Amino acid sequence: MSKVSVIGAGNVGASCAEYIALKDFASEVVLLDIKENFAEGKALDLMQTATTNMFNTRISGSTNDYSKTANSDVVVVTSGIPRKPGMTREELIGTNANIVKTVCENVLKHSPNAIIVIVSNPMDTMTYLALKATGIPKNRIIGMGGILDSSRFKTYLSGALNCPPSDVDGMVIGGHGDTTMIPLTRLASYKGVPASHFANNEVLSKVKADTMVGGATLTGMLGTSAWYAPGASVSALVQSIVCDQKKLFPCCVALDGEYGQKDICIGVPVILGKNGWEKIVELDLNEEEKAEFAKSAEAVRSMNSVLGQTTA
Ligand code: NAI
Ligand code: 2OP
Repeated sequence: MSKVSVIGAGNVGASCAEYIALKDFASEVVLLDIKENFAEGKALDLMQTATTNMFNTRISGSTNDYSKTANSDVVVVTSGIPRKPGMTREELIGTNANIVKTVCENVLKHSPNAIIVIVSNPMDTMTYLALKATGIPKNRIIGMGGILDSSRFKTYLSGALNCPPSDVDGMVIGGHGDTTMIPLTRLASYKGVPASHFANNEVLSKVKADTMVGGATLTGMLGTSAWYAPGASVSALVQSIVCDQKKLFPCCVALDGEYGQKDICIGVPVILGKNGWEKIVELDLNEEEKAEFAKSAEAVRSMNSVLGQTTA
């Protein structure tokens, strides 16, 4: 059975632990936070839902004691500060870069073979930082953003097409930023039938625009960034690894020539299994989509260039 640790027991971290436990695919989830007793409290509260929700995953908490995370198969990094209304994900870079770097080093001391999932924002840059700072094989570093953005895309699409959410398929690739993500409307479908069969360009453009500001819309409403859909997205990603499901999800991974890019971590479709991301799937993008991807990569690369000036 598998052990999953979640670093940062705030809104997103606790939601990750909850959705992972609800699916009952891991034997153990450890929540860790720097705030005294905070992770222990969240873990105890969540554990007390087990008999009602009928799961057997053991959830425990730790105040910054990484020995409790030892031998984790997967570690999810959510530690850091979230967006406040009006803030972009990119504005979080200085604070979160130092946190993510230190956390990854601590994690690997106790779980040298772990697959690391980065959630902290700006996620594409934090994933790149984790890859460079740890030096572990690239298949073991995965950023989560595309699954969440795709779930927002599909939700807006099902509303626009007036169809059940489970009948909609669609994917968002590129960076996890309001201006860098690329909802692929051309490839979206209602039970395999192209979305363009049911909605005109104007409707699909609005779905795309709503998706791109999906996170900012919620931050404006909640006063902080969202956590339910992020937690559910992380859970699906972790389950595909732990259960070796070979699911195809858009995730932020290191590219080495794929999609015409090198030395960057950005969202592309990948197959997820017990080895982390196992294969990059190259979509047949049209010229417009290729140009959007190149522009997105340029923006992510420019954000990455700030790293050297911010990390200690
Ligand atoms: P939060 O403020 O509720 O929780 C963050 C937690 O991290 C706090 O409990 C804090 O004590 C802890 N923390 C800070 N430094 C730490 C350290 N060195 N070690 C361990 N724990 C530490 O924030 P929330 O809403 O949970 O968001 C967390 C991060 O996830 C933010 O950067 C946010 O922007 C990002 N996020 C990313 C998403 C994605 O799709 N990639 C979606 C939603 C949020
Ligand atoms: C979100 O997309 C802010 O990345 C966070 O909700």
